[in-house]
Amino acid sequence: MLRIDPIVEPPDVRLSLPGSKSITNRALITGALANGKSELSGVLFSEDTLAMIDCLEKMGVEIISERDNSSVTVIGTGGSLKPPTETLWVNQSGTTARFCLPLAALVRSDVVIDGDEQIKGRPHKQLCETLEILGAEIEYLGAPYTFPLRINGKELKGGKVNLGGEVSSQFISALLLAAPCFPEELEINIDGELVSRPYVDMTAAVMRAFEANISHPSDQKYSISPTGYQSSEYSIEADASAASYFFAAAAVSGGKIVVEGLGSQSIQGDIRFLNILEEMGAQVIRSEDSLAVVGLDSLSGVDVSMAEISDTVPTLAAIAPFASSPVTIRDVTFISGKESDRIGALITELTNIGIRAETTETGLVVHPGAPQEGIIHTYDDHRIAMAFSILGLFTSGITLDSHRCVTKTFPNFFDVLDQVRAAGDARLRVLAIDGPAGSGKSTLAKYLARQLNLDYLDTGAMYRSVAAVALSEDLDLNDEGKVASIAESIDIQFEGDKVYVDNEDFSEVIRGPEVNAAVSQVAANPGVRSVMRRQQRAWARLRGGGVLEGRDIGSVVFPQARLKVYITATPEERARRRSLETGQTVEDITKEMLNRDTKDSTRDDSPLVADQAAVVIDTTGKTIEETSSYIEELFL
Ligand code: CDP
Repeated sequence: MLRIDPIVEPPDVRLSLPGSKSITNRALITGALANGKSELSGVLFSEDTLAMIDCLEKMGVEIISERDNSSVTVIGTGGSLKPPTETLWVNQSGTTARFCLPLAALVRSDVVIDGDEQIKGRPHKQLCETLEILGAEIEYLGAPYTFPLRINGKELKGGKVNLGGEVSSQFISALLLAAPCFPEELEINIDGELVSRPYVDMTAAVMRAFEANISHPSDQKYSISPTGYQSSEYSIEADASAASYFFAAAAVSGGKIVVEGLGSQSIQGDIRFLNILEEMGAQVIRSEDSLAVVGLDSLSGVDVSMAEISDTVPTLAAIAPFASSPVTIRDVTFISGKESDRIGALITELTNIGIRAETTETGLVVHPGAPQEGIIHTYDDHRIAMAFSILGLFTSGITLDSHRCVTKTFPNFFDVLDQVRAAGDARLRVLAIDGPAGSGKSTLAKYLARQLNLDYLDTGAMYRSVAAVALSEDLDLNDEGKVASIAESIDIQFEGDKVYVDNEDFSEVIRGPEVNAAVSQVAANPGVRSVMRRQQRAWARLRGGGVLEGRDIGSVVFPQARLKVYITATPEERARRRSLETGQTVEDITKEMLNRDTKDSTRDDSPLVADQAAVVIDTTGKTIEETSSYIEELFL
């Protein structure tokens, strides 16, 4: 369950969003098939792209990831993929599933492909049939045309194939991407109008950047010469589908949101979502390297065909209630076969919060209204979760029943959403207290909270709780994903000095030597930090402010806190105080604290630093009353 906090002030922010999922998964393939070493920047690391990386690696491609830099180096194979020793596991990723089918045929010996339950329900019939026509042998290990299947492309050639325009554009993209490494030219003829053409155009644009020879003499025809690919230094745009949520938020809010890394020349069809917002009455500012939306007085309804930008249907449906007239979305029947039955999901969930929404012959219509509070079922579909989060910015009491699905394409979605709330957060009565281990922050913070009549939050106890659960489950602390999912799943509650995790009293165990030794590693995990930040901000919003104490409160969690204080004391003094509290020897404590301080100050994500605007107070030799009355005066 995740409560979505509404915004209380219109935003005015510049956002840097993750790289495009669609371009990342295409460029990984062109890089993997190229001659030579490719450098990709702006890479998205999410479940879907990690699935692609994993499948390529299993086919012998060397991929060096630098997640902190959002970049990867791909050592191209010149088209010679190796037989995997294990099943290719596409997880839940549609592009990985489809794109890997022709790639696996390039291996030219048996390759088994399988994936998650959700992907097993998605059909690949025309793609499989086309590969069979081109010479691949496919054996279906379950139901026909679905995963798991075994493919062998040793007889694969080129030739002419026909595909219906109504099939998934991913089938055409999949064939195009592998085609430069076929032994002969491939000609694809499309019968009828091609749906989602912008995605095929995007595929062609990425292929050309890696020097593929692809000709497109008419709307109905693509020819690809068997030239292979050449390596490239390729910069991936920010994800336009991900940006749609923030453009939509700006349009409703009356504020301004600028998205960087995405420009008017984008190869992503989804930037056309901006045209719809423009038609509804929002202002759109386009430049070469950024796109912005300014919300004006009000939004009117629209009647639009969204066949070509269907990933943004949930976004539009979620802001539709705030328009002054109905929003009609046409030509999107096929989105019922995405991660969820999206049309059904949108109508059910909008209806549940009191909005009139109905299916039409080819889509849906949403009527104006004021959404009521309620619990939104997300169907484990990232786009439903993100779209209703935007609705929740303008409606109090919206809760998502599950939200981890956003990691499929946008792992830091909720962090970015917090940036949209920054103007409102600046108005909270937040006192941020940071400092190194044992500096006396907790005692001081509790005292100050009483004096100022505010609630107190010990954020260190939150990191300690995650560490304690990770240790109790015997997890490898280096497995960042697993440890982060603990942060997401446990419920931490405070009652006076007691800390309860999933209703169990953890007050003692979180202060024990095992947790002391492990907590800094757990706290350096970016996934854990992202969840903790979100919970800490939500805690303060619910109370209109509070005294929060930790390591990054003034620098990262509440950079616009009303007052930031950085508390220090000499190491001897800190160890002496803690020894009095715990009975441990001063030597042991000094060692343990300095060890943690080093780890906390040198980590990449939110290192312990005195924020530039923080008041630094050395408490050595000072009484708590002295320090506290000084801070109270500054705060009030
Ligand atoms: O009480 P003490 O100052 O020794 O530590 P704490 O406040 O209980 O914090 C325990 C650990 O949690 C720290 O050493 C940090 O690794 C981590 N922490 C953090 O990274 N960020 C925070 N805001 C609070 C704690």
